[in-house]
Amino acid sequence: VIEYLEDTSWLEDTLGAMGRKHVDYGVTDEMCAYVGDSLLSTLAEVAGDAWTPELEATWREAYGAIAALMQRGAAAA
Ligand code: HEM
Repeated sequence: VIEYLEDTSWLEDTLGAMGRKHVDYGVTDEMCAYVGDSLLSTLAEVAGDAWTPELEATWREAYGAIAALMQRGAAAA
């Protein structure tokens, strides 16, 4: 994702396809929030003192953008 930040169609196509695969895994929208919270907690724990409110907000926004593109692909499935 980081390598393709400027490439909207790659992000839409790749994350949309991954969202559709997750439908087959039984993943629901509700679960995306659980995974996002777990990711943020893990990053905070590992980063320790280096973790800041700004990093938290930026990671939350990044996860939200990725999850939204996956959910859009899933909804189109
Ligand atoms: C933005 C959120 C997520 C990302 C970026 C992500 C990413 C991935 C990736 C890269 C894979 C590898 C296989 C593939 O390409 O499909 C995968 C597999 C999988 N993910 Fe996710 N995932 C996300 C959310 C979730 C959630 C919310 C769940 C369920 C709670 C979930 C459950 C699974 C399962 C069950 C597999 C298959 C594992 C296996 O067959 O070994 N994922 N995910």
